[in-house]
Amino acid sequence: MELISRIMDGSIPYDPEGRLGPVSAGLGAKQDDKIERLKEVPLFEGCSKRQLRSLAKIARVFDVAADTVLTRAGEPGDEFFLIVAGTARVDVSTEKHVPLHPGEFFGEMSLLDGGPRSATVVAETPVRLLVISRRHFSVLLQDVPGLTQSLLMTLSRRVRQAEESTERMGGALAGL
Ligand code: CMP
Repeated sequence: MELISRIMDGSIPYDPEGRLGPVSAGLGAKQDDKIERLKEVPLFEGCSKRQLRSLAKIARVFDVAADTVLTRAGEPGDEFFLIVAGTARVDVSTEKHVPLHPGEFFGEMSLLDGGPRSATVVAETPVRLLVISRRHFSVLLQDVPGLTQSLLMTLSRRVRQAEESTERMGGALAGL
């Protein structure tokens, strides 16, 4: 089970290696501050004040150290992640690595289709994450119609990029 999942469901109270922990100050501390920050996230720009308030209640904020594995390809996943600060890296294949920056998200695929994680995602620098559990994610999708559209647009872009790189690889192999 992924580290954040274990902390979220209470099966471990903290990360024994001290690499990851819920934030007790800054973005996580005051609800009003959290709402202000959420307003700045493009993914949530269509949210009303009421929606932002409920989002602030359900989202948890975590700070993770560089090199922390956030999702592991092939494992089940129960959380959706939004990067607030820092950079994460999606290891799509041994050759293909996609950087993710503040405002970008990951972990939506397993929540949408119930399948295992499609890729390993690693914190490339110290990263601050907003984490939403599966249960809350589906309520959020029902509540905020614009969110589904943003997710679909990102998914389409990711499929397109993945296909382009497969074609490039096929072309390179054919030229050998
Ligand atoms: P999920 O499969 O739940 O967990 C791994 C995540 O990596 C996946 O959701 C996406 O959010 C992300 N991901 C997978 N493939 C790509 C890609 N080609 N480009 C960017 N992000 C990706």
